[in-house]
Amino acid sequence: MTHQTTTLTHPTRSHPPTAVVTGGSAGLGRAVVAALAADGWQVITDARDGDRLTAAVQAIRAEVPNARITQLVGDITDADHRAALAVAVDAAGRLDLLVNNAGVLGPASGEGRYRRLVDVTAEDVGYLWRHNVGAPLVLTALLLPRLVANGGTLLSISSDAALEHYQGWGLYSASKAALDHLTATFHAENPEIAAYAVDPGDMRTAMHQEWFPGEDISDRPLPESVVPHLLGLIADRPPSGRYRAADLPPATSTRPTSPQEV
Ligand SMILES: NC(=O)c1ccc[n+]([C@@H]2O[C@H](COP(=O)([O-])OP(=O)(O)OC[C@H]3O[C@@H](n4cnc5c(N)ncnc54)[C@H](OP(=O)(O)O)[C@@H]3O)[C@@H](O)[C@H]2O)c1
Repeated sequence: MTHQTTTLTHPTRSHPPTAVVTGGSAGLGRAVVAALAADGWQVITDARDGDRLTAAVQAIRAEVPNARITQLVGDITDADHRAALAVAVDAAGRLDLLVNNAGVLGPASGEGRYRRLVDVTAEDVGYLWRHNVGAPLVLTALLLPRLVANGGTLLSISSDAALEHYQGWGLYSASKAALDHLTATFHAENPEIAAYAVDPGDMRTAMHQEWFPGEDISDRPLPESVVPHLLGLIADRPPSGRYRAADLPPATSTRPTSPQEV
């Protein structure tokens, strides 16, 4: 496999590798925050529900006593909140990884999440696009100079729905296809960074349960099972593009066992 080459400024003890992971209070985001913190990363994460975010970060700290996590309560669609994330990155001193994980199913209004395209409203479009496309776009743009400075990694959490055509999921699916496209274009415009759209596969999370209300989803894998594949991606840094998590070789760490810390 061809690997991209970049000129990296090495992390130091005072400035460990740093990640922003949106939506770290639950599901895949929480699992990614926990894994990166355990791997020695400094992690900045957010969510809208402050109590749930605090509980998640406390639980991670209980598992990873030296975890370096900065939690910011807020909504990625809010410009002030995004600015606060950028301030936190500057305080951390570097940015090596941005994970655009937070997302919503939508539509915002009406009964249920299932909505055939013929019934989609302008409000539905605005809500879903603002959350799943607009916010990751402008957040990435805001943090891009910090990411470029370290030849960092942009990781957008996609879905098989970005490629498949499921009845009733068209708006969400199109938003994920758009996110894939933006992610690839960020790399085309900034070849210094690696940029990946990754389909994590079905996961046993609140969002997945929302797709299947009342159904038993206990056969779906936990989001923690996806994390080793994402760690492998970050460690291996394959060519930028779209991947299925299941196709990525898993790893237990993003870094060599003897990190070149100075
Ligand atoms: N679960 C699946 O089967 C599946 C399959 C394919 C792709 N995905 C994708 O994987 C990603 C994670 O999904 P998940 O299943 O882990 O979802 P989840 O369990 O619903 O967790 C979503 C996380 O994002 C936060 N969040 C949502 N909107 C936010 C916003 N506007 N600003 C800040 N934080 C926000 C949530 O906290 P608050 O609600 O408190 O803000 C929560 O921490 C999503 O992009 C999803 O589309 C999931």
